Amino acid sequence: MTSGTSPLEFNAAKYSQGELCIEQMPLSKIADSVGTPAYVYSKSYLTEQYQLLTNALAQTPHRIHYSVKANSNLAILALFKSLGAGFDIVSAGELSRVLAVGGDPESVIFSGVGKSTEEINFALKAGIGCFNVESRSELLRIMAQAELLGRIANVAIRVNPNVDAKTHPYIATGLKENKFGVTKDEALALYLLAAEHPAINLTGIDCHIGSQINEAEPLLQALTSVLELRDALERHGIELEHIDIGGGFGVRYQDESPLDIEAWGASVGQILGGRDLQLRIEPGRFLTANAGVLLTRVEYLKASDEPENKNFAVVDAAMNDLLRPSLYQAWHEVLPVRQSSDAQTLEWDIVGPICESGDFLAKQRSLALAEEDLVAVLSIGAYGAVLASNYNTRGRAPEVLVDGSEFKVVRRRETIQDQLRLELEQADH
Ligand code: LLP
Repeated sequence: MTSGTSPLEFNAAKYSQGELCIEQMPLSKIADSVGTPAYVYSKSYLTEQYQLLTNALAQTPHRIHYSVKANSNLAILALFKSLGAGFDIVSAGELSRVLAVGGDPESVIFSGVGKSTEEINFALKAGIGCFNVESRSELLRIMAQAELLGRIANVAIRVNPNVDAKTHPYIATGLKENKFGVTKDEALALYLLAAEHPAINLTGIDCHIGSQINEAEPLLQALTSVLELRDALERHGIELEHIDIGGGFGVRYQDESPLDIEAWGASVGQILGGRDLQLRIEPGRFLTANAGVLLTRVEYLKASDEPENKNFAVVDAAMNDLLRPSLYQAWHEVLPVRQSSDAQTLEWDIVGPICESGDFLAKQRSLALAEEDLVAVLSIGAYGAVLASNYNTRGRAPEVLVDGSEFKVVRRRETIQDQLRLELEQADH
């Protein structure tokens, strides 16, 4: 399905007087100040996306738990906290980030198939709002640890509804073949088991069927399926307060027809039909993806004389800064920061300096490029900086948050000293 609009129509980046800007801030000014590569985010765009979701669910008692994994920068967490969000975490590290911005532990839900004993204990002591439990073994471990610590664990069981999210196979989670959650039958057995345990407080049901879902139908199917289980549990005398349908709300990167969030919200309201139940969602990408760009500079152009050969634009960002194209064959728009150029328009593969042929940010893009030009890779606010690595001993790029005509560096560039420290501390070099 395609809708044919330009990525600029749904992105935080816009041209103003021939210069690509985030809000009122020209990207060239940010490059002058912090260098390249750099991730740049728009505060107002993040805020507007949050409002869109809130409005879509205006008729439904709900709580938005921002999925920290999408972009865990403290400034972004602080912003969502100020807007009233809770958080969805998958590690003790992410919980520490939430606590570092003064997030209320009660607003935190803890998902993930591999919570360690240390992580469970940390979360119990912090007093988090809910564990989304993904297996019988995990439930037993949480029971034992809660008892040992004299705490009550709030629990939802993650159900795998066996619904096809119709997304990239690496980010689909709701099929039987995926490692996530338990079947409805197993969930029922686990609820009955947990209901007997004094250290467990059963508060809800959880599911999450995948990411970058652009059709409402699978999401609504999963909701209906989970509601059936909720009603069955009620017949067993187990009353739950919330239903968590995870995240996964798709966005536009290129010309996809994205999920119509308002229509989805209206359908959710209809399905819930005035039940006395809180809806929880765990959005990540929807809130952050199109809020940011990766700003990079062209180092070298390798144009070919042979028409059948490729032209390469080697930029200073690489797969260690943005893994999505290499890992999921993801498409990200690439735009020049300055619109006018004397250079000839050619078809370029935009590649990084890393020693792998899989190190590319975009392929076959018609652009007028000259060496030292700045270009922006769009839609990198979700799963951009968080997937960065130090491969080839490259320092991680800084993150910048723009607010109107001002910007703030919200994570500084990683230095070589930052990288060497952990090893120099250990070894007799
Ligand atoms: N809740 C759970 C339990 C999840 O596993 C995820 C994402 C989310 C919420 C948030 O999903 P979102 O609303 O952001 O779609 N690295 C991949 C995406 C991996 C998603 C993993 N789980 C990418 O770059 O496309």
